[in-house]
Amino acid sequence: MTNRLIIAVSKGRILTETLPLLAQAGVVPTESPETSRKLIFDTSVPGVQLLVIRATDVPTFVDNGAADLGVAGKDVLIEYGGDGLYEPLDLRIACCRMALAAPEGFVLDGSRIRVATKYVRIAAAYFAARGIQADFVKLYGSMELAPLVGLADCIVDLVDTGNTLRANGLAELEEIMPISSRLIVNKASMKMKHEQVRGLIDRLSAGVFAE
Ligand code: ATP
Ligand code: PRP
Repeated sequence: MTNRLIIAVSKGRILTETLPLLAQAGVVPTESPETSRKLIFDTSVPGVQLLVIRATDVPTFVDNGAADLGVAGKDVLIEYGGDGLYEPLDLRIACCRMALAAPEGFVLDGSRIRVATKYVRIAAAYFAARGIQADFVKLYGSMELAPLVGLADCIVDLVDTGNTLRANGLAELEEIMPISSRLIVNKASMKMKHEQVRGLIDRLSAGVFAE
């Protein structure tokens, strides 16, 4: 009997970059998740369905078994924490870096600083490792604005081209870590649906390493 296999992805760049990898692995949604308002999609493979959800919700769905597999940024996975998920494959998509940035001329002189970020766990570990005292202002977007209006001295955010930093008069001080999206798997699904899950991981990795 074929088990149902549910894959969770987020709308936007992860969906756009995951769909070709899934297609190479033989999984094609029966209608376009990029244009439809539906949240769950059947695919060319009987029993395999796609869920389209918020990026930060992907680990929650997979951890709780509401999805068997998911695609999530390393940033999101570190912030989610825990050890309830397998992370068998770096899909090498949605690549960027986590970085410390501040207004041009800002110098880290060892004094206590205020940091705006959506990534408090990553930022806290980074400053702790450097022995720098930091207070955090948790934001959910537009971090670049915070130093411009006195909400923070600097930011910890994702950077790709650097265009958003430059457009707001900020400069990258240091790369904290490289970021890419990972395939994640629910631990029970890995055991109970091993053949199906393993087959999909193998087909996806063939596509990733063929790039
Ligand atoms: P949410 O909808 O939960 O707020 P989000 O807006 O961060 O999430 P996206 O902007 O689609 O969702 O980002 C999804 C993932 O893509 C991020 O977790 C990160 O790993 C990666 N990412 C974010 N910004 C960039 C970028 N500028 N270039 C490349 N990859 C990026
Ligand atoms: C991300 C990130 C930066 C920007 C960096 O935002 O939060 O603002 O990309 O990319 P760049 O270095 O190429 O300019 P995103 O585009 O995801 O917008 P969002 O914050 O609204 O999700």
